[in-house]
Amino acid sequence: MAILLPGGAGYIGSHTAVELLNSGRDIVIIDNFANSKPEVLDKIRKITGKDFKFYEMDYANEKELEKVFSENKIEAVMNFAGYKAVGESVKEPIMYYQNNIGGCVAILKVMKKFGCKKFIFSSSATVYGDPKVIPITEECEIGGTTNPYGTTKLFIEQILKDVYASDNSMDICILRYFNPVGAHSSGLIGEEPQGIPNNLMPYIVRVAAGILPELSVFGNDYNTPDGTGVRDYIHVVDLAKGHVKALEKLDKENKGLYIYNLGTGTGYSVLDMVKAFESSTGKEVKYKIAPRRAGDIASCYADPKKAKEELGWVAEKNLEDMCKDSWNYIQNSQKM
Ligand code: WQD
Repeated sequence: MAILLPGGAGYIGSHTAVELLNSGRDIVIIDNFANSKPEVLDKIRKITGKDFKFYEMDYANEKELEKVFSENKIEAVMNFAGYKAVGESVKEPIMYYQNNIGGCVAILKVMKKFGCKKFIFSSSATVYGDPKVIPITEECEIGGTTNPYGTTKLFIEQILKDVYASDNSMDICILRYFNPVGAHSSGLIGEEPQGIPNNLMPYIVRVAAGILPELSVFGNDYNTPDGTGVRDYIHVVDLAKGHVKALEKLDKENKGLYIYNLGTGTGYSVLDMVKAFESSTGKEVKYKIAPRRAGDIASCYADPKKAKEELGWVAEKNLEDMCKDSWNYIQNSQKM
């Protein structure tokens, strides 16, 4: 029996592949390398010393998905595939709805055909929109997403609720990620955004490495301790381990649809991140204060209690680990 990972060569997918293999699971990865590279597969093998099957294909292709399901005994699917650039989603909403929602629906359709019941979905804290209460619990209202990327996550959550309502023998887990950062401690896999990064940590490491001249801090007049935006940054390896715990939950519990926040519960500001990066790596991060970025909110951090109580999962890595591992990865990837 294997776990199917659409998007398993991507940033979060590859780290989860490592944790699944290390916990003794068999996996099958499918990826079309839209935002990842074939070398990642060998790096997963190198880190774990384990092999797995791989199919280069589009995860929305039902015919090819059927082939994967007929050639392998798939007991669960963890869906990491999908587009994730917020700005691009505003310019290309149809592309986002078609790929993210169409791909997910294709998987669910083929799972149904083959009687596969367990599904773990990569959702996002973005489904909470501008949260009314912080820290955010899973009971907080969802909606009010500010871009098509976020709305695809919101809509897919609704699709999963409808699928579960129609078939209570399904076992579904929605994981709402906060802000994933960091890389595997081996320095072999990590985040590799194409072009100029939009997210904070990839931008910081590129400034520290001299690839980009300086960081623009988007706004210092928010209602936060230092005026800059506050987020819940979580190490990608902790996030990956959360998926292993979620799978264990689906293995042993009664059928259900479960929702968990995966965050640390601590919020850090943009300037906290700059300082932490400088002190963990000894590298300077030049920055300037710039206007607010459209669509940004002041603060967003998780209440991760439910995941602790029900999954036995807590984030173990600290901000220093996140900074050091991000830095280690970019240095390694530049050498390669
Ligand atoms: C964090 C903070 C910025 C860049 C987005 C998506 C979310 C998820 C993760 C996934 C904010 C500030 C950033 C920069 C800055 N998507 N910042 N200068 O916006 O919380 O979440 O990414 O794939 O769905 O919405 O993350 O890293 O972009 O920003 O000052 O150059 O850093 O204003 O306060 P965000 P982020």
